[in-house]
Amino acid sequence: MKSSAAYLASLYCEKGDLRYDGEGVTQLAHAWQCGQLAKAQGASPQLQLSAWLHDIGHLLSKKEGTPTTYGHDDRHEYVGGNYLLSVFSDEVSHPVLMHILAKRYLVTTNSNYHQSLSADSIRSLELQGGAMSENECSQFVSRPFAKDALSLRTWDDCAKNPDSKMPTKADAIAQLLNLAKECQ
Ligand SMILES: [Fe+2]
Ligand SMILES: [Fe+2]
Repeated sequence: MKSSAAYLASLYCEKGDLRYDGEGVTQLAHAWQCGQLAKAQGASPQLQLSAWLHDIGHLLSKKEGTPTTYGHDDRHEYVGGNYLLSVFSDEVSHPVLMHILAKRYLVTTNSNYHQSLSADSIRSLELQGGAMSENECSQFVSRPFAKDALSLRTWDDCAKNPDSKMPTKADAIAQLLNLAKECQ
């Protein structure tokens, strides 16, 4: 497997039109919207790229469809985050590695968070370990990049708008490549 931004872009070319079961958007739309939300919040280019690529593990994995629908956790945060470690800095890869932990943290620490989650996120939560214990929460927040992972998670949860206007697939992927170039 090639380690390059171009390879990641080719994955969106090939598989970006796949839909999440339980979400109203494609993989590419979710990735693009997440990157846009990061940009709108003034995130660094590295964190914008992290937002863009946080679910790349789903595309790197050979599993069909949405694995949580058949009770399988594809551990996409590690598949994607570990791949990104081979291409980009920790600023890009670590928030990706931690975006499921951030969800589990928010379920414990924010009483309104669980009900705000999408059907797919609720279905996958238990497979991913469920709510964190208090001890796990304090360990999580003390880790480097915890703040970035929490920001990313907030954008992730909002990047599922089926009515959001987006550029053509080619233009969205060109934006991804430009951002990646800035971060290499
Ligand atoms: Fe994810
Ligand atoms: Fe996501």
